[in-house]
Amino acid sequence: PFEVKLEKSGITIEVPADRSILEALRESGVPTVSSCESGTCGTCKTRLVSGKVDHRDMVLMEEEKDSYVMICVSRAEEGDLVLDL
Ligand code: FES
Repeated sequence: PFEVKLEKSGITIEVPADRSILEALRESGVPTVSSCESGTCGTCKTRLVSGKVDHRDMVLMEEEKDSYVMICVSRAEEGDLVLDL
């Protein structure tokens, strides 16, 4: 498990090992947009403020990987993530 901190909302949500970031946000009542939920469509693209991401999507270009995370499939590589939500 790891935590995502939502910078604008000022809340922190735990992401269990068996949930995506997207699912954890949804279960906590945070509004999200998604479509494929398999890392291919690009809908759930979320701006990353800080943290090390384990990118598991097929969408992001190399140069986007420091600034964005596809929250339906990608996870924290180590530590926690801060998202611009
Ligand atoms: Fe399609 Fe995340 S919902 S890439």
